[in-house]
Amino acid sequence: MIRSPRTPDEWDEYYKLRFQVLRAPWNQPIGSERNEGDQTAAHFAFFEENTIIGVGRLDNMSATIAQIRFMAVAGNQQGRGIGKKLMQHMEEMALVSGRTTLILHAREIALPFYKKLGYTITEKSHLLFGDIQHYLMSKKHESIR
Ligand SMILES: CC(C)(COP(=O)(O)OP(=O)(O)OC[C@H]1O[C@@H](n2cnc3c(N)ncnc32)[C@H](O)[C@@H]1OP(=O)(O)O)[C@@H](O)C(=O)NCCC(=O)NCCS
Repeated sequence: MIRSPRTPDEWDEYYKLRFQVLRAPWNQPIGSERNEGDQTAAHFAFFEENTIIGVGRLDNMSATIAQIRFMAVAGNQQGRGIGKKLMQHMEEMALVSGRTTLILHAREIALPFYKKLGYTITEKSHLLFGDIQHYLMSKKHESIR
């Protein structure tokens, strides 16, 4: 089931997974997995047997553009289709609000994942932690469903 975290425990679990997958391997401090955009964004957690095993965030950038951020699937659950389901769900949510263009900054290692989902590279973007090259990618849907 994909939905936003609700209880304080679920929010803890949500940010913990973000931290474990996207920050801890680069020795980043606790807290670095959050930013001010968390207040206004839409949050999506993939629950399996009451445990969060995948997370993603959707930011509205304009009336027609949404950005996907902080995509992460638990290390021992990767490659099972969880990421794909989360992405499709977030795209659906963006589309129903009229946001037909999706953008994201992909880590180099995740490029094949996003390409499979129909995203194309727009440009090389930032270097995170002086190490992880990112690429701005986008996908445009034909029309609002
Ligand atoms: C990248 C990530 C979100 C993908 O989620 P996932 O659940 O592992 O991916 P899925 O199992 O849903 O894969 C969907 C498809 O992409 C393909 N894919 C995923 N990662 C791939 C890779 N590195 N290389 C080639 N194909 C890949 C899968 O084979 C699958 O193809 P299919 O639909 O034909 O079966 C996840 O592996 C992850 O959290 N990685 C570490 C953190 C990270 O890099 N996050 C992205 C930050 S931009």
